[in-house]
Amino acid sequence: MNVLVTGGAGYIGSHTCVQLIEAGMTPVIFDNLYNAKAAVLDRIEKVAGKRPEFIQGDVRDKSALVAALKTHDIHSVIHFAGLKAVGESVEKPLEYYDNNVNGTLVLVDAMRAVGVKHLVFSSSATVYGDPASVPITESFPTSATNPYGRSKLMVEECLTDFQKANPEWTITLLRYFNPVGSHPTGEMGEDPQGIPNNLMPFVSQVAVGRRDFLSIFGNDYPTPDGTGVRDYIHVMDLADGHIAALKRLNHRKGLHIYNLGTGNGSSVLDMVKAFELASGKQIPYKIVDRRPGDIAECWADPSKANKDLGWAATRSLQDMTTDGWKWQSLNPEGYPE
Ligand code: NAD
Ligand code: WQD
Repeated sequence: MNVLVTGGAGYIGSHTCVQLIEAGMTPVIFDNLYNAKAAVLDRIEKVAGKRPEFIQGDVRDKSALVAALKTHDIHSVIHFAGLKAVGESVEKPLEYYDNNVNGTLVLVDAMRAVGVKHLVFSSSATVYGDPASVPITESFPTSATNPYGRSKLMVEECLTDFQKANPEWTITLLRYFNPVGSHPTGEMGEDPQGIPNNLMPFVSQVAVGRRDFLSIFGNDYPTPDGTGVRDYIHVMDLADGHIAALKRLNHRKGLHIYNLGTGNGSSVLDMVKAFELASGKQIPYKIVDRRPGDIAECWADPSKANKDLGWAATRSLQDMTTDGWKWQSLNPEGYPE
């Protein structure tokens, strides 16, 4: 089965391509390389034993998408492409709505033009806003506190309306919690440009000596140690969730929504300790003010995905930090240019 993977050169997309190949499927990557390097293709080939087809293109370009879908006889699309930095989205809302919302609308329009009717969309736990309680089930109310989150919510709503009007389509919204870690070989991993926004890439860069210390954003939250609690999920488990969605749902027309998380919450200090253990390095840190917009705690109830998709996260916190460290220590500056 040929699968178009928009954003397939990025962090989650590239790991998913490896697992697609492992599962006997054929990924075709469609990415404009805005936030990725072409070297990732060499690494996918090294790890999976097969080089995916690569099309450099923008998801806002309908004719390029139509050509890709037709030429490669695509059966399903996994749509990772988009912008994902919360802070940047506040500064550049138009760019976020254009890439994330308009990009998805153009993609669906292109799929419709060629009759491809299976779509998996990368959504986010951010659509739950500040949840009233944890763990979070898919039926919790949704809300957005920044343009990035609002773009995910808008896309979810557009796709829901579209599927209702086109009941022969299968559309799956996967709400990711906090993806971390790397391929266990250390050949592939997260390669943020500039100062990392997320906790684990920052911690790894401190461990490898690229940054002096970690700033912990607040230790006065109503959590066991006062620092924020999240549901960190190994990127390989997350990748496997996409394979499960393709395998289990492609014959079930409808709009499906799943949380992809482990069901466990870990604090910032838990993550620092786990990373110290994995790397053998000390992670110096300073407690600073809370980051505006942050919530105290957030973790998934993943039982719906367990039941319907036969999928559960199997990799431990130690796997996440050990594999994350392997990638960072073997590739201190990320992928080569
Ligand atoms: P990433 O930036 O590593 O990957 C996104 C890829 O999309 C990049 O390779 C980029 O070059 C490409 N891209 C961006 N705009 C494009 C466009 N207009 N046309 C074609 N390609 C384009 O991000 P990621 O962490 O792999 O995230 C993948 C998806 O998952 C995103 O949609 C993101 O919002 C979502 N998500 C990520 C997280 C997370 O913490 N990483 C959490 C929840 C949801
Ligand atoms: C985790 C914890 C921080 C950095 C974000 C997006 C969300 C989703 C995943 C895409 C929090 C603390 C962090 C640092 C810190 N992305 N922290 N020092 O905020 O849960 O989610 O990424 O969809 O939409 O909002 O993840 O990794 O930024 O933060 O203390 O330098 O680490 O306060 O408690 P977050 P994160």
